[in-house]
Amino acid sequence: MSKDKVQIFDTTLRDGEQVPGCKLDAKQKLVIAERLDYLGVDIIEAGFPVSSPGDFKSVTQISELVKNATVCGLTRAVRKDIEVAAEALKSAKRARIHTGIGTSDSHIKFKFNSNKDAIIERAVDAVSYAKSFVEDVEFYAEDAGRTDNEFLARVCEAVVKAGATVLNIPDTTGYCLPDEYGAKIKYLKENVNGIHNAVLSCHCHNDLGLATANSIAGVINGARQIECTINGIGERAGNTSLEEVVMILRQHPSLNLDTNINSKLLFDTSQMVSRKMGMMVQPNKAIVGANAFAHSSGIHQDGVIKNRETYEIIDPADVGVNESSIVLTARSGRAALAYRAKLVGFELTKLQLDEVYEEFLKFADENKEISDEDIPKIIEASNITIESI
Ligand code: KIV
Ligand code: ZN
Repeated sequence: MSKDKVQIFDTTLRDGEQVPGCKLDAKQKLVIAERLDYLGVDIIEAGFPVSSPGDFKSVTQISELVKNATVCGLTRAVRKDIEVAAEALKSAKRARIHTGIGTSDSHIKFKFNSNKDAIIERAVDAVSYAKSFVEDVEFYAEDAGRTDNEFLARVCEAVVKAGATVLNIPDTTGYCLPDEYGAKIKYLKENVNGIHNAVLSCHCHNDLGLATANSIAGVINGARQIECTINGIGERAGNTSLEEVVMILRQHPSLNLDTNINSKLLFDTSQMVSRKMGMMVQPNKAIVGANAFAHSSGIHQDGVIKNRETYEIIDPADVGVNESSIVLTARSGRAALAYRAKLVGFELTKLQLDEVYEEFLKFADENKEISDEDIPKIIEASNITIESI
C-alpha cells in the first residue's frame, strides 16, 4: 500500500530567523532556500514581506530562485500585508500567502480588544483578499492550541468557505499535550463542513518539549502538513524540528506516512544552517547532534561493535552521517579499546589487551576523551611489545 504524503513546510527562514542572534543576510537566506529546495521540502516560508524592506527583498529573491518548492509569505489579516506579500511572491513558480489572526480568548481580548464574530469577519476578509492574488492561501488560527475547539471549527469552516486551501492549527505557546493536540485535529476533521477542500497543518512550538510529539499526534489524526525548522530553531524554545519528524515517519512504517525529504542530506543541512545562523546544535540533539550516533559506555560499545542495531534504531548513513562512533572514555570497556586500537593499526591479543586496558583506565580517569593520537602513547606506557599492523 502506498504511503500517504505529509507535506513539509519549512519555516527556518521565517519563524526560525525571528530568533535573537539568528538574523541572516539576504545572501545567506538565498543559499539556505536553495538548500531546502534541494532537500525536498514542499513549502518554504521565505519571510514576512511587510515586516521590513530587507525581508521583502529576500522573499522576492527567493521567489525568483526556487525551482520546485512552493514559496510562501506570512501576513497578518491586514490588506496592506497581503498586497505586499503578493508583490514579493509574484515571480514564484508556486506562490502561497499565509494569512491569519489570533483565535484564543486571550488573543481576542488582549491583542485585538475584539469579539468572536468580528474575528471571523477579519479572517474571512483576509482569505478572500489573498485569494484575489493567489490560488494557494493558507490560514493560521494563532494560538489555536488554547482556542476552544467549537469556536476553532467555526473559524475554519468560514475560511475554507472563503477559499483557504490549508488550515494551520498552531500551538503557538507550546501548551498542548499530544493527546489534546491530536484530538483537536480529529475534532476539526469531523466537525468542519468542507474540510475535505483543505489540508490541515500542524505548527507546534516547543515550550514544554512537546513540539515533535504534538506534530506527530496531529498527522496521526489526519493533518497532512507539518510546519518545522532545521534544528528546531524558532521563537523561545523553538519549533518542531524537521529532521525529527521526517525520521519518525520513516522509522515507523506502520504509520503509513512519509515525506518527500531526501534524508541523506539532513546532517549536512543541519550543519550548514547552524554555521550560517551562528547557532550551535546541542550535542545530544536527536538525529543531527554530534553525539546522536556516538557510543561511550562499555556495555553499549560492546553491543554496537557486535551489531550496530543493538543500540541504534537509525542507520547513520540514512541521515548523512558517515558512521557511528565509538568514543573512548573511562566508562569504555575492552571491546571498545581493542576496536579503536585496531582502527589505528594495533591488533591486540587478549593478554596484551588486559595490560593496555589497565594503562588506558589510568589515562582515561585523567582525561575526558581519548583520541587516536593517545592510543600509541598508552600502548607504549603499558610496556608490552606490539607489532603495529
Ligand atoms: O506560532 C504561530 O502561531 C505562528 C503563526 C504566525 C503561524 O508562527
Ligand atoms: Zn510559530
